[in-house]
Amino acid sequence: MIIAVDGPAASGKGTIAAALGRHYNLPHLDTGLLYRAVGREMRAYIDMPDLEERALAVARDLDTDAIDPEYLMSAEVGVLASKVAVFPGVRQALFEAQRGFATQAGGAVLDGRDIGTVIAPEADAKLFIVAEPEIRAERRARQLEARGQTVDRAAMLAEIVARDERDRSAPHGGFHPAADAVLLDTSQLDIEAAITAAIAEVDAAIARKSASMAGGFPE
Ligand code: C5P
Repeated sequence: MIIAVDGPAASGKGTIAAALGRHYNLPHLDTGLLYRAVGREMRAYIDMPDLEERALAVARDLDTDAIDPEYLMSAEVGVLASKVAVFPGVRQALFEAQRGFATQAGGAVLDGRDIGTVIAPEADAKLFIVAEPEIRAERRARQLEARGQTVDRAAMLAEIVARDERDRSAPHGGFHPAADAVLLDTSQLDIEAAITAAIAEVDAAIARKSASMAGGFPE
């Protein structure tokens, strides 16, 4: 079974995807880490004219098994990631690793921006997680503070809004929910409620799929 969990920055998709992995006993990949790993390597070159070429070389050589999230979770690395993620060559270079993870025997949960549309369009269940930008900024601020970082909340909100805009207007057409994705708005949900709702949606998607494969007529 493949579960695709997409959504904007700090929507809660990573936490939800990890919980779904535990619930259904499936391996989980946070695909944002791949873009973050490339972005972090580009911090000295982010305004250079040859950024695309350099980012492409790093993406092609990236050892996806050796990624350490410890150095990748800062807001600064998130911005760098979104700047290299607009290059089609970088997306192509990171495609195989994500596709391989998605199609491994037994299935997987992946979270990102384009899992349900590009990486695994055949996924058995697709969720698109959304939440108000102010709520996402506050959640991310608390997450970083829990890691001992100091956070400027106004700057955090501005960064989330700018990253949404960059992700929306990227040359590949921007990220959008797959036509068959279920939208889950977590603005008013705490994490436990969001996970419970996500599990209910995945169970419902699986039931719909088995009904249609059995020749039934799901609504
Ligand atoms: O999800 P996260 O905040 O870690 O992602 C960092 C950035 O990486 C995103 O803003 C987006 O630009 C990029 N990304 C992407 N495709 C994915 C995952 C992340 O373009 N599947």
